[in-house]
Amino acid sequence: MPAKALKVIVTRRLPEPVETRMNELFDVELNVNDTPMDREALADAMARADVLVPTLGDRIDQGLLAQAGDKLRLIANYGAGFDHIDVQTALQRGVMVSNTPGVLTDDTADMTMAMILSVPRRLREGNLQMQKGTWEGWSPTALMGHRIGGKRLGILGMGRIGQAVASRARAFGLQVHYHNRRQLHPDTESALEATYWESFDQMLARIDILSIHVPHTPSTFHLLNARRLKLMKPSAFVVNTARGEVIDENALTRMLRAGEIAGAGLDVFENGNDVNPRLRGLDNVLLLPHMSSATVEGRLDMGEKVIINIKTYADGHRPPDQVVPAML
Ligand code: DGY
Repeated sequence: MPAKALKVIVTRRLPEPVETRMNELFDVELNVNDTPMDREALADAMARADVLVPTLGDRIDQGLLAQAGDKLRLIANYGAGFDHIDVQTALQRGVMVSNTPGVLTDDTADMTMAMILSVPRRLREGNLQMQKGTWEGWSPTALMGHRIGGKRLGILGMGRIGQAVASRARAFGLQVHYHNRRQLHPDTESALEATYWESFDQMLARIDILSIHVPHTPSTFHLLNARRLKLMKPSAFVVNTARGEVIDENALTRMLRAGEIAGAGLDVFENGNDVNPRLRGLDNVLLLPHMSSATVEGRLDMGEKVIINIKTYADGHRPPDQVVPAML
């Protein structure tokens, strides 16, 4: 089908150059007000579109897919994670799903390092003192944090982002340990000077900082549960820039409050933007609003990927970033 004839419906506001390019290429319906679509609006969009461009806040489940129109052939997600889409059901109904991998790797790894540095060094507390005007001047014992160099960083999930974090962490003198479904190729492992742990539990007991880089799937849900959190040293820190569902947030909150975990840097939460109120206000917790990949450059690259996926589909081929069953 000629690209210009494709009805493409975009669920959220995208960067202006991306929207302009989409307007040139497709028969596009944009969400100029950026109001998140409710279920009814999503169902209406899916009934009318050839291609839907959702983002991670749009829950596209079995029920919605059942109401999709016959025209809908591609869900070109604006984002790398696709845990909000029932890909299995989409494929069964002949709807392809694509995502935007690779272009968020460096930005997410940079923010992960920012958290790995900020939490043990108490940046949040220092900044609060300055903002509130409560700083009483330098003192030898004020705001002592913990040195990063020489500590053991445990990376859960050694895919693209995990590896990008590992190479940055080496530059800060951290010792890199990792747990992954598969051990890395020996060349990659030695380039990253990374130690593989087949047992996640055993790694947890020995590390000083845990950084999470696995997607949210049925097998990673609450992978860091209360039992595993208890295996960690009380002096250890947890950083999560992946998906909130991987951690039992209630258990983590309880342990942070009880001083059984030293601190946490969280960019993602178990219930989306409904953040556990008991996490707020804790000195040892840095909370960010899912902004690890939020750079102008990254968002434009994501848009470019979405456009290439749609164009390739319009040209009669499989989108280059198609989500295939092996990835589920
Ligand atoms: C994604 O694309 O899935 C990221 O979580 C956005 O930050």
